[in-house]
Amino acid sequence: MGKQIKIAPSLLSADFAHLADDVRKCEQGGADLLHCDIMDGHFVPNITVGPLIVRAIKPLTKLPLNCHLMISEPEKYIEDFVKAGADYISVHVECQNHLHRTLSLIKSFNIKAGIAINPVTPLNYAFDAAEYCDFILLMSVNPGFGGQKFIKSVLKKCEILSNFLETNKLDNVDIEIDGGIKIENVADIVSAGANMLVSGSGIFDGDVVSNIKQLRANAENVK
Ligand code: DX5
Ligand code: ZN
Repeated sequence: MGKQIKIAPSLLSADFAHLADDVRKCEQGGADLLHCDIMDGHFVPNITVGPLIVRAIKPLTKLPLNCHLMISEPEKYIEDFVKAGADYISVHVECQNHLHRTLSLIKSFNIKAGIAINPVTPLNYAFDAAEYCDFILLMSVNPGFGGQKFIKSVLKKCEILSNFLETNKLDNVDIEIDGGIKIENVADIVSAGANMLVSGSGIFDGDVVSNIKQLRANAENVK
């Protein structure tokens, strides 16, 4: 029995003028998590939202908030995001000198801790950090924007990570793939070992409810 498929709509592609409506549509579609893309215009060439939006969304939904911190010095803001209502927090390995300390800090708040790894950042970080993670996010686009093309070389990376987790009895660690996931390619991504599937434009471009249902159907018939 493989890992449970978790569909995580990325709100970066949602209608920010009607966010509450889009959160409701995600629930109607049966999403498992809401993916909140936090960007500071420094770690990535774009600025989005911070703890404020997490605080605003929290009372709207029972869905866990999966906060992806694409920011420099994320360790400074962990407590703010926890207080705002984050249930999952991932930090990028590329901006961390003290990853174990940051992961311990996240877990000290009894929420899920993860690392995020950019498309061609070596997977080695994951091998040493995995035992301290609840999930590992592999970026399949260059972070900063929605609507980009899936980078196919990440499939191989995902397979290697999946095998590593299984061999080392770390099957409880979820593999989150983030960027360029569509109804058409989700089966290949699940076949490579991913189970947490982030999709922004693949869900919000068009009918949110049916896109989520179709993504899940295509993902689950691989299992
Ligand atoms: C990009 C974000 C992704 C992105 C996914 O930096 O981390 O979560 O919003 O959007 P799509 O699915 O459109 O690539
Ligand atoms: Zn993301």
